[in-house]
Amino acid sequence: MQVIVCKDYEEVSQRAADILEAAIREKPDCVLGLATGSSPVGMYKELIRRYEAGKLDFSQVQTFNLDEYYPIEPTDPQSYRYFMNDVFFRHINIPQGHDHVPHGYEEAETVCRAYEEMIRKAGGIDLQVLGIGGNGHIAFNEPADTFAERTHVVDLEESTIRANARFFADEADVPRRAVTMGIGTILQARKILLIASGAGKAEALRGMVEGPVTPHLPASALQQHPDVTILADEAAASLLQN
Ligand code: GLP
Repeated sequence: MQVIVCKDYEEVSQRAADILEAAIREKPDCVLGLATGSSPVGMYKELIRRYEAGKLDFSQVQTFNLDEYYPIEPTDPQSYRYFMNDVFFRHINIPQGHDHVPHGYEEAETVCRAYEEMIRKAGGIDLQVLGIGGNGHIAFNEPADTFAERTHVVDLEESTIRANARFFADEADVPRRAVTMGIGTILQARKILLIASGAGKAEALRGMVEGPVTPHLPASALQQHPDVTILADEAAASLLQN
């Protein structure tokens, strides 16, 4: 794991955009794994800026988002589909049908199987972007007794519901379930980029980098991947030993 400590969120976002830009330049038809949450928003803004400046072309890129609430309609403003359209897809030239988000509105088992199949058909994910939950979750893989391998439906933890309540009018409105790529799905990406910002992520980051590999801190599974870059601001990196 390579940890790059940045002075602030702005630098994290710039450097994350640099890594995505390099991936797209190297392989214009690359397959990107994308994340929601606040952490990658600065990166999306910077990618849009570079696209508008004529420096980036998404016409051959495919994307696969990590997760989606379940059940939820894609037109629901709280859905991750809506969020991604709003903060990223509608601002760039990614073709319709290239921007995949798990369907939160179809029968669960079908959705999970179809998503894995689509990723496989696309040739696998070249670069997967991740955030991290304060409890060490990645995508919606919550702390558990075993690592979930493939795309599946999960019950969200109370702490995750509380953390995500800021996007909803009321905590009671936060969906209790979600469909998410599994840890195995994520580890199959050729390259992984994790973005962490703020003191609320410091404990999870320490466990992920320096603790044992355990499903009780799902992000620790990334220690088993050969190509992981972590971009963390000083607050998020504050508890790391080295
Ligand atoms: C959510 C998402 C995760 C994300 C995490 C952290 O639960 N499912 O993919 O990494 O929250 O979000 P944030 O970046 O807003 O702290």
